[in-house]
Amino acid sequence: MDVTRVRKDFPLFQQEKPPIYLDSACQSLRPRQVIDAMNEYYCDFPACGGRSVHRLATEVSIRLDKAREDVASFVGVKDAECVMFTKNATESMNTVAKGLRLERGDRVVTTDMEHNSNHVPWVLLAKEKGLRRGYLSFQELEQGNLEPLKEELEKGVKLLSVVHTNNVDGSSIPLKKMVELAHDHGALVMADGCQYAPHNPLDLTDMDVDLYAWSMHKMLGPSGTGILYGKREVLEKVEPLVTGGGGVAITTYDTADILPIPERFEAGLQNYAGIIGSGAAVRYLQDIGMEEISEHERRLNVIATDGLMYVRNLSMLGPADPRRKGGIFSFNLKGMLPHDVAMILDEIASVLIRSGMHCVHPYFSSHGLEGCARASFYLYNTEEELRRFIESVKYVAEKFTD
Ligand code: ALA
Repeated sequence: MDVTRVRKDFPLFQQEKPPIYLDSACQSLRPRQVIDAMNEYYCDFPACGGRSVHRLATEVSIRLDKAREDVASFVGVKDAECVMFTKNATESMNTVAKGLRLERGDRVVTTDMEHNSNHVPWVLLAKEKGLRRGYLSFQELEQGNLEPLKEELEKGVKLLSVVHTNNVDGSSIPLKKMVELAHDHGALVMADGCQYAPHNPLDLTDMDVDLYAWSMHKMLGPSGTGILYGKREVLEKVEPLVTGGGGVAITTYDTADILPIPERFEAGLQNYAGIIGSGAAVRYLQDIGMEEISEHERRLNVIATDGLMYVRNLSMLGPADPRRKGGIFSFNLKGMLPHDVAMILDEIASVLIRSGMHCVHPYFSSHGLEGCARASFYLYNTEEELRRFIESVKYVAEKFTD
């Protein structure tokens, strides 16, 4: 992969002194191809889709269909109607949690490293509706131990809802094997693919997962864009979170005939520029190649780990092998708050990372940690940037820890 050429597509890197952006796990940068696609919508056909029949609206509808097909094909899905546009993975997962009509006593099993988007809805539903919960150790799953999952499944599970790659240390679970096991026990599986889909080749048909949610703004897409994929027969049993215009066939004073997927989940005027930009984002990634992107990030993670593993007072999170952590490198400096580490790195070296609990509060609290500092890499980061990151972290460790 030619990173120098890739960087030419990103406006931020055209600044005289661009910062070192290592926060793509939160939100990625966008290439001009995505920005151009959005501008084209606003300048050339800024109308609504799926409603009016004039020429501008027709163009919008055509572009939306194309974006849906491109996103579907990017994740190995043939039936593009199984791809819903949402505003983020949080909305995608809330749609399922609230729309699946689970009943008192139904069990939902997650891991112990869920982002709040796949945790808070279940906490609230457990209180409101009496759902029962089960938790699996993410670390054990990552290490290939599926025994605890079997034990949970044998107790009876309606939905296994798990994060595919966690956003704390970047490690992943063997989702395909887990899906197989869950299906053998009659459980549905939903996965949060926010940190997996942007960084790896993905074939959801082969994975056989029932529901998969992710955010486009972590994979070069516009802010506030997400996806909910689901098998048709599963999504048809999910009640929409939002209802209204565009989501119904016909209404009377007493009835509303909800449309099938995907309109069922896309009521109200949509983020047309965002959806069209999402299509441009997956085309861009596809052109570069997900295998190459994945390998590039792993290479950067090896550089970070080799460069920092012996630094005094620095501890790393997650598996020791950097190749099992994708594009995420998380660490703590003894005696320092993660936010202080992040602010100092920005101040002294324009290195931009994320710090804190990364919306995974229960995991950090149960491990007695205040959070961590997290650097996350993507296709546009260079080895030179990694060297500057390493040098600046070493400097902070040297100057600010005992
Ligand atoms: N979930 C996003 C992150 O980990 C916001 O940064």
